[in-house]
Amino acid sequence: MPLAVVLILLVVGSILFHLLSPWYFTELASNWAMVDVTMDITFYVTGFVFVAVNLFMAYCVIKFRYKKDARATYEPENKKLEYWLTGLTAVGVAAMLTPGLFVWAKFVDVPEEAHVVEAVGQQWHWTYRYPGEDGKLGEVDAERISHENPFGIDPEDPNGQDDIIVYNPEAHIPLDKPVKFLLRSKDVLHNFTVAQFRVKMDLVPGMNTFMWLTPTKAGRFELLCEELCGVGHFAMRGAVVVDEQDDFDAWLAQQPTFAEQNARVAGNAAIGSAQYAVCAACHGPQGQGIAALNAPKIAGQSEWYLKRQILSYKNGLRGVHQDDTFGQQMIGMVATLADEAAVDNVVAHIATLPDEAPEMTIEGDIQHGKQIYTVCAYCHGDDGMGVQALNAPRIAGSSDWYMARQLDHFKTGVRGAHPKDYYGYQMGLLSITLRDEQAIKDVIAYINTL
Ligand code: CUA
Repeated sequence: MPLAVVLILLVVGSILFHLLSPWYFTELASNWAMVDVTMDITFYVTGFVFVAVNLFMAYCVIKFRYKKDARATYEPENKKLEYWLTGLTAVGVAAMLTPGLFVWAKFVDVPEEAHVVEAVGQQWHWTYRYPGEDGKLGEVDAERISHENPFGIDPEDPNGQDDIIVYNPEAHIPLDKPVKFLLRSKDVLHNFTVAQFRVKMDLVPGMNTFMWLTPTKAGRFELLCEELCGVGHFAMRGAVVVDEQDDFDAWLAQQPTFAEQNARVAGNAAIGSAQYAVCAACHGPQGQGIAALNAPKIAGQSEWYLKRQILSYKNGLRGVHQDDTFGQQMIGMVATLADEAAVDNVVAHIATLPDEAPEMTIEGDIQHGKQIYTVCAYCHGDDGMGVQALNAPRIAGSSDWYMARQLDHFKTGVRGAHPKDYYGYQMGLLSITLRDEQAIKDVIAYINTL
């Protein structure tokens, strides 16, 4: 008898949980209502079977419970019952599978007017390419992929010159226009998923896969990788921003083309040295860093990283948290760099400064730190020299007190909390693996040995 009660409670509880639960699908933001219908049908079929089977079990437990004089009857065959069960099961299974065939037929039939966006996944970030005015994407080859050419575009291909390069995990698409996402992976399996769009697809190295949709709601939707792709998988986030056509056009016009990117002139260190005077006041004339002024060593840091951080300060992605007092100071300082060329120049000057080891101020358990560092090494490298392809800066030979403060800021959300600071956000997620202050000290003590 108690078993029957448990079974009935299980059924009633499940139904109540379904009706009262706050966890349900995110709001639909694309044309794929068909997917929701398909899932609803599956849900109702399996839900009905779940309720029927469990209630029937409860009924049997009650009806056929032990009675002293009761005798079992033997009935090995019941043709009529078997026909019914086979028929009903066939109908249920067909009801679950058939809608999927209709959805798939539509999924592989991309509307001709769909515009194309290429999304490229790699451990652990997203980048995008849009065809330029000719509407054609240039040829790509994995062997051509480099820091300067992250998409591996053929420089000889005229179709590729006007390709628009978005080296940032945030894509924009116009509202109510069908879009075909071409999907490529540089390394392992990834998966392009925006829950609100309902459709998703794997990125497979060596293959071009695709998916299409028509966004029906404007807004910013989180992009997730839904294929376990290594230690940073959970931090492989991005966004798809659905804009009104005008906003989309304005955004796209700001992005560089492949040709423009190649034509960029390198920073001029001589011009940059004059602008560096402002930096020198805190970071020191040789970029060696001055702890008393809370200014870290910048000499020897990768140029791409210095540039990104300066631009992050300029664009309000960094130094805006109310508890980030030193970051706030930087905002005033970077304002003296008028434009991107000025940033390039000053970074070029910093690259000429001598790279001398800073004073070590933090002690910890180096052996324990080495264990912790195995996670850091995935992106920052075994030698801590940074890996540009993974957006991970050099950390070896940096001011150790500065690293300790930054790790604490990442952990507490003082740094990396801005929704557009994807790499900072990623570091925030990973810094949580450092459990306490001692763990931070230990890992920095190890980094000091690199
Ligand atoms: Cu990429 Cu998970």
